[in-house]
Amino acid sequence: MKNHLENFLLGPDALNKAAELLKNGQLLAIPTETVYGLAANAFDDLAVQAIFKTKNRPATNPLIVHLKHLNQLPSIAQNIPEIAFKLAAQFWPGPLTLILEKQAHISHWVTAGHATVAVRVPNHPLTLNLLQLLDFPLVAPSANRSNHISPTTAQHVLASLGKNAPMILDGGTCTSGVESTILGFDKDQVVLYRHGAISKEEIEEFVGQELIDFVEYKEQGISPGSSKKHYSPKTRLVLVDNIARHWEESQRVGYLVLQKSFEVAPPHVVKELSASANLGQAAAHLYATLHALDHLELDIIVAQRMPNSGLGRTINDRLERAAEG
Ligand code: TXA
Ligand code: MG
Repeated sequence: MKNHLENFLLGPDALNKAAELLKNGQLLAIPTETVYGLAANAFDDLAVQAIFKTKNRPATNPLIVHLKHLNQLPSIAQNIPEIAFKLAAQFWPGPLTLILEKQAHISHWVTAGHATVAVRVPNHPLTLNLLQLLDFPLVAPSANRSNHISPTTAQHVLASLGKNAPMILDGGTCTSGVESTILGFDKDQVVLYRHGAISKEEIEEFVGQELIDFVEYKEQGISPGSSKKHYSPKTRLVLVDNIARHWEESQRVGYLVLQKSFEVAPPHVVKELSASANLGQAAAHLYATLHALDHLELDIIVAQRMPNSGLGRTINDRLERAAEG
């Protein structure tokens, strides 16, 4: 790994330096409340293309545009449904991404050729201050190599992108720790494209209707965030309902559980996501715990399925994808 000081923007001038890099068409890793993003000027096609190259991301997978304020939304999207404005007013800045009809000037590099654009206002003080210094929005996918575990610390960004890592604005550990919830709109109905840091229940309560699950909504043939294999550690991961049945004597096993209820003898390890079995806290710890297990050179990670409610659904979604293949 590189000497981290080479990549970190430090000191009182960090924000101004960060803004300069972005204005010059460079990439920059930025903190958000969900995960670190690999950011570029959304209006600079060459910078946007560099994101795909740096992450090894397929050009068919569109990016999220990050705005400094809700009032910028009409400059990016059009024919915005009333319910979208209400959701934005309620949850922004925060971990909610909306899929909307794009304004004509939004580049096909950003939207991967779709007529829609994904938008959110992130809730991290450093990144909001940075956006204030810019007269353009930022596109930012998670700052990891494509299909690998998302980064919730600046050190994760370095470890995942290695020699491709750009300069990093270190904003500490991400508080939500899982990606934003993504919603789209079909006439009066709200479609859940990706489980995320705001639970399905919380959104349903706010909109007063059940969300249509994207999995059952394939009409448009768009596959958001949904290459099946995703969020994966290098170590093989299996997802089980009952963890006690999956002990494997001959292997070095890492158990990933909500709350620790058993001990294991070395070389096996068990890691819990929340000592109080709190699903929000578990979500916040998920990626850091997967990163930690992945560094132990285990033969297998055996992960316990979470209760299927609240942020448990989001964790299960990520674990299912980590277990694919
Ligand atoms: O919390 C987050 O959303 C983080 C932080 C950095 O903001 N970003 C993030 O970006 O998770 P990324 O690129 O890893 O995931 C964005 C997802 C992608 O899976 C993409 O397919 C979907 O959003 N997406 C973007 N534009 C879309 C569109 N027009 N239609 C459908 N899905 C879209
Ligand atoms: Mg991602």
